[in-house]
Amino acid sequence: MLRRLYHDQPESFAFTPANQAWAEAQITKYPEGRQQSAVIPLLWRAQEQTGWLTRPAIEHVAQMLGMAYIRVLEVATFYFMFQLQPVGSVAHIQICGTTSCMICGAEDLIAVCKEKIAPTPHTLSEDGKFSWEEVECLGACTNAPMAQIGKDYYEDLTAEGFSKMLDDMAAGKVPVPGPQNGRFAAEPLGGLTALKDFDSGHTKYNASAQLATDIGDGIKRIDGTEVPLLTPWLKDRATKDEAPAPAPAAEAPAAKPVAKQVEEAKAAPAPVADVADVAEAEPDLLTAAREGGADDLKRIKGVGPKLEQTLNELGFYHFDQIAAWTEAQIAWVDNRLKFKGRITRDDWIGQAKQLAAGEDTEFSKRVDKGGVY
Ligand code: FES
Repeated sequence: MLRRLYHDQPESFAFTPANQAWAEAQITKYPEGRQQSAVIPLLWRAQEQTGWLTRPAIEHVAQMLGMAYIRVLEVATFYFMFQLQPVGSVAHIQICGTTSCMICGAEDLIAVCKEKIAPTPHTLSEDGKFSWEEVECLGACTNAPMAQIGKDYYEDLTAEGFSKMLDDMAAGKVPVPGPQNGRFAAEPLGGLTALKDFDSGHTKYNASAQLATDIGDGIKRIDGTEVPLLTPWLKDRATKDEAPAPAPAAEAPAAKPVAKQVEEAKAAPAPVADVADVAEAEPDLLTAAREGGADDLKRIKGVGPKLEQTLNELGFYHFDQIAAWTEAQIAWVDNRLKFKGRITRDDWIGQAKQLAAGEDTEFSKRVDKGGVY
């Protein structure tokens, strides 16, 4: 199947403030120089917010991760989980059409989709509420035929039951996910033949269906307010409610050069005051390295080539400058780096003190041997 961007694209994309905070937190999971690893989570979040992946969203993610747009486009067009065209405002229905589901009635479900939604896949229904597609095995073969709708699996479907489910969803209801034929999970329809004293844990539905019901966000768009923004690795960012909302990006222009970003960062107030409530204070900055040349800041664990360039452009060239940062000055620097929380997490200050004193660290030894960059 040819996967191309949709012909009619919106002007711009911006994460909601909560989703932006979530996305920035995801980026901090990866070591310096490896932020691109967050590309799939960020694209997925963008899709969850909008329902499908727009070109401005792809560009926005590329900009956030410092990646070439074409690289992010490659990811978005490679994986079928990314929807490259608008989907139904209520739900996008994914019918499994692989062997088990096919012999158990998937074609009947697809017939319902063709009749009630649109004759062809990836086409909006007339009211814009639904779209559908046939997908490969979703791993619920013992509950065939099945469909993924939003985030949940609906299993043991019949054409009649599935048709009614669509009507319910159109009316604003969310049917309980899981088996639709009375089974608890994947046990024999006639009842258990073994493990008869099995205890479900006293939940009404099986674990997946129970959790889906408890969370209740199955077919909703994700704007970040649904679940706590847990970022335990950032210590002081426990929930989204505590995370000050960053200003959403306006348009999604092409990635800017680092120098431009630094210039803007210097001029603008800190976009996200997220690491601590410490008032920031500007450290002593240099316009150039002292006589003798700049220190190799990449000898500090957590500082890669890009971050070193950013630090230099902010006015930091030497270990002793970093070693002298106070808490407020750390906040100042942190607010101007793209990936927050790294200074304290990797103990830049402690490392810089050792290096400024002429000592080595385990990491700097590896750098000096050429084993890192
Ligand atoms: S064949 Fe449909 S879920 Fe596996």
